[in-house]
Amino acid sequence: MGKILNFGSLNIDRVYRVEHFVRPGETISSRGYQCFPGGKGLNQSIAAARAGAPVFHAGTVGTDGDFLAELLRESGADIRYVRKTDGMTGHALIQVNDEGENCIILYQGTNFDNDTAYMEQVLSDFGTGDILLLQNEISNLSYLLKRGKEKGMRIMLNPSPMDAGLAGEDLSGVSWLMLNETEGCALTGEQEPERIMRALLSRYPEMQVVLTLGGEGAMMGGGEQLLHQPCFRVKTVDTTAAGDTFTGYFAAAVLEGKNAQDALRLAAAAAALAVSEEGAAVSIPVRQQAETLLKKSGY
Ligand code: RIB
Repeated sequence: MGKILNFGSLNIDRVYRVEHFVRPGETISSRGYQCFPGGKGLNQSIAAARAGAPVFHAGTVGTDGDFLAELLRESGADIRYVRKTDGMTGHALIQVNDEGENCIILYQGTNFDNDTAYMEQVLSDFGTGDILLLQNEISNLSYLLKRGKEKGMRIMLNPSPMDAGLAGEDLSGVSWLMLNETEGCALTGEQEPERIMRALLSRYPEMQVVLTLGGEGAMMGGGEQLLHQPCFRVKTVDTTAAGDTFTGYFAAAVLEGKNAQDALRLAAAAAALAVSEEGAAVSIPVRQQAETLLKKSGY
């Protein structure tokens, strides 16, 4: 059935509960502080692994990051390609407000120690039919996009965090683009979901585009089909890693051969469970929990 290689970030998340996001020139006290494992890469690998997929994580931690690799392993991901260097592991400073919304500042740390020689070494164990799962939190992403395409891997890209470099990138080798409206707007200049979708598909006719719409669920376009997936209603505690959970579960579902609608539904159920708990990686459900929610919802 193939396997998933996720070349992605590993972060330490420093999470502050706040009444409102800090404004320019303002100093505020937080209501609480917690330190969690995170990073879009790590979160997506954990989601895919907890969904039951064979996922291999590659990426670099520093001297303070062993616990991140350990959590990946405990969650069922293969960590043989995770590397350790002398630097400081990447971290994220996250504010979460009473509505469960977040805003994030990243420090790259060792996520930018990934060089192309290391990438080649890892890629040599993967090929046609395998999924290369990527985000934009590590060094040399362009190289991975190019080499993944050359090797005939199926690339699933979550273009987050969006930046000017990625906005100008050739994404023609990407099979699935997993993005939110803000990223869609940055890539196309369009504001409306339908227009974002149309603009991306006319630029990349071979691509499957999955646009997540927060409380409005998600839509997926590609080929002749346009699908909608409402979100499952839950009490929102913390939306951090909701998108990562969705992406990791979607990747696992695609790999196991689910059709697009069923893959979207499973991903949406898992994401809903993730927003009802605090933290990033620690909030990601196991497959059984997602299946139970689907059953309770009549599927
Ligand atoms: O998507 C959520 C993640 O973004 C956090 O875990 C944080 O580390 C940042 O990478």
